[in-house]
Amino acid sequence: MIVAPSILSADFNRLLEEVKECNNAEFIHIDVMDGHFVPNISFGPAVYKNLKGKVNNVFDVHLMISDPMKYLDDHVNAGADIYTFHYEAVNDVKEMIEEIKKRNIKVGISIKPKTDVKLLLPYLKDLDLVLVMSVEPGFGGQTFIDSALGKIEELARLKKENNYHYLIEVDGGINQETAKLVAKVGCEVVVAGTYIFKSQDRKKTIEYLKSL
Ligand code: DX5
Ligand code: ZN
Repeated sequence: MIVAPSILSADFNRLLEEVKECNNAEFIHIDVMDGHFVPNISFGPAVYKNLKGKVNNVFDVHLMISDPMKYLDDHVNAGADIYTFHYEAVNDVKEMIEEIKKRNIKVGISIKPKTDVKLLLPYLKDLDLVLVMSVEPGFGGQTFIDSALGKIEELARLKKENNYHYLIEVDGGINQETAKLVAKVGCEVVVAGTYIFKSQDRKKTIEYLKSL
């Protein structure tokens, strides 16, 4: 399992050290919130850009913002490796995918709990990552929504049947128990904020998730 610790739950006063403590995780999950698409404001590219070059984690950027096209270059310049926008936030999904690809970074689409996987069917062949939200986006520390399991299973089936290349990522309420559930139905990347950053031994928690 690929592990993506969400820095939303990290101590922003010592962000570099906090991310370094996650150096056994392949990704670092960067939750960008604009207080408009979601009812919370987190941070922008200025807050994480100085991490680039000091840590080896893949910058897995999750845009919970209303205008992901407008801020694309800011995040590319800040070192985003994967740019994951919300299906619900754009009118022209195809154009958004093309613009991200033009910048030679990876493209992901995220769907909220109430958004059906079927809406992604026309785009799956072009995606590097699909992010299934297992909580309503906007906050860390929420409870896992079980309906995410069926979506992961459906995405895993579609990937196998069509030989797509996207990674299946799940985000929200991941802990010791829910991580096992999502692994069983085909999840390939788990995002965890609270579970990792609030645990006694972060490296051990990350190793556990990697072992699934
Ligand atoms: C929620 C974010 C998640 C969140 C995960 O909107 O997209 O990445 O930080 O936090 P936990 O793991 O605490 O649910
Ligand atoms: Zn996220």
